Amino acid sequence: MYYDLGKKDLPRILVVDDVLANLNLLTDILTNHGYQVRPANSGKLAMRFMAVELPDLILLDVKMPEMNGYEVCRHLKADERSRNIPVIFISALDNVTDKVHGFNAGGVDYITKPFQAEEVLARIKTHLSLRRLQRQLEERNIQLRQEIAWRKQMEKALQESEEKYRTVFETTGSATAIIEEDTTISLVNEGFCKISGYSKEEINDKKKFREFFVDDDLIRVEKYHRLRRVAPNQVPNSYESRFIDRQGNIRNILINVALIPGTKKSVASITDITDFKQMEKEIVRLDRLKLIGEMAAGIAHEIRNPMTTVRGFLQYYKSKKEFEQNREHFDLMIEELDRANSIITEYLSVAKSKSADLKLHNFNQIVETLLPLIQADAINSNKYIQLELSEIADLLLDEKDIRQLIINLVRNGLEAMSPGGHLTIRTFTDDDEVVLSVQDQGLGISNANIEKIGTPFFTTKDNGTGLGLALCYSIAARHNAIINIQTGPNGTTFLVRFKINGSVNLFV
Ligand SMILES: Nc1ncnc2c1ncn2[C@@H]1O[C@H](COP(=O)(O)OP(=O)(O)OP(=O)(O)O)[C@@H](O)[C@H]1O
Ligand SMILES: [Mg+2]
Repeated sequence: MYYDLGKKDLPRILVVDDVLANLNLLTDILTNHGYQVRPANSGKLAMRFMAVELPDLILLDVKMPEMNGYEVCRHLKADERSRNIPVIFISALDNVTDKVHGFNAGGVDYITKPFQAEEVLARIKTHLSLRRLQRQLEERNIQLRQEIAWRKQMEKALQESEEKYRTVFETTGSATAIIEEDTTISLVNEGFCKISGYSKEEINDKKKFREFFVDDDLIRVEKYHRLRRVAPNQVPNSYESRFIDRQGNIRNILINVALIPGTKKSVASITDITDFKQMEKEIVRLDRLKLIGEMAAGIAHEIRNPMTTVRGFLQYYKSKKEFEQNREHFDLMIEELDRANSIITEYLSVAKSKSADLKLHNFNQIVETLLPLIQADAINSNKYIQLELSEIADLLLDEKDIRQLIINLVRNGLEAMSPGGHLTIRTFTDDDEVVLSVQDQGLGISNANIEKIGTPFFTTKDNGTGLGLALCYSIAARHNAIINIQTGPNGTTFLVRFKINGSVNLFV
């Protein structure tokens, strides 16, 4: 039992000495100096005490019957619970060998009898402080170990979640990029490489997003980027824009953007909607053609009837003697009526709903048959025609329609060029399509006009009717073909793509 049990937080010292006078003296000194003391008059008793409760420090006599101090000390040091309790030997044996023995047994200090009370107190104080320090270090050590273990766990969890996100990032259907605040693209997925034509190494941390947008859209997109970081609610999360790939092709895209929480980075996923947009345009165009068809059916007949009457009378009067000197005027009037009639005929063929005479034909052969007519046109205006025809599959075509299509595209091309220009007509196979291309060296079509191409009566020419291309689109639609236009300051190419196995559309 410790003396001074009332003060439990005071350091506890186990004093072991077989000489009662020493034991009492030490007990008195220590109790008077603020320690709780447990005296034991033998090593065995000391061991029994410690089985119940451990002290903070042990003052241990060396020479004792039965179990001497060294033995007690060795037992303590062998036990995990007590190995760190400081042991100070107190002994009358004052030679080096004994002291070495003491330290070897695990003691931290060695005091020789007779001792000074101050010396004992000072050493106890020192060793208790050292022990406290050691304990603090041990605790810190445990904390650090726990922290390391926790960090490792977190790292593992982070790695796992990063792998998860990377999988999502890579396998999400659309092209995705992570964009830094300064507009650098720091990470892209395979989808982005596919749409852009660049490799990851060429983009990651090297390219800014401005390189992928057409100039007209850039100001808007950069404004969104800035504003998203300041006032995210004022910016749409999804918007349409135009994307430029490595080859300079422009694609319509739908962008979905979101800030990555807690960062200034955004993640943008891009969907290519070029085909969808093209289809939308085609639908609008077809709607217009349908409307024109309905109008044409209604009025063409009504106009032609009176025109036939007028033409008949003009011809009749032209042959009369009294109008002989006006014959030229009659001819002019008849010519003008014929021109009006031919416009109506063309107008009606725009509105025509199906190709009447479908047979297996080869494009090359149709082009070659038309060549003299086309050459004549070109020579008249001092321009050149080049043919580059490759072997292509036969297609189900209405020959009259296809002649119209070729003539209209070729005439437009010739009209777009200054004298000396070359016009190239090509046929080739691309995947499962036969393509007819007509390329000129004109000045190209402006952005504003390209939207109107194919609209009936849209023309920029003084004598144009603006029905040529409307007719081409109508013929293409009837053959389930698609018209693509590539245009720039060095010229325009019209590409008409026919599906080799595509069925002909009889209902357009
Ligand atoms: N190859 C081309 N290069 C430049 N502009 C073109 C080309 N083809 C067509 N265009 C533009 O498209 C417009 C419409 O062409 P479209 O063939 O429908 O009518 P048009 O040639 O004006 O008259 P027409 O009915 O006599 O053919 C043209 O007026 C022209 O501005
Ligand atoms: Mg034309």
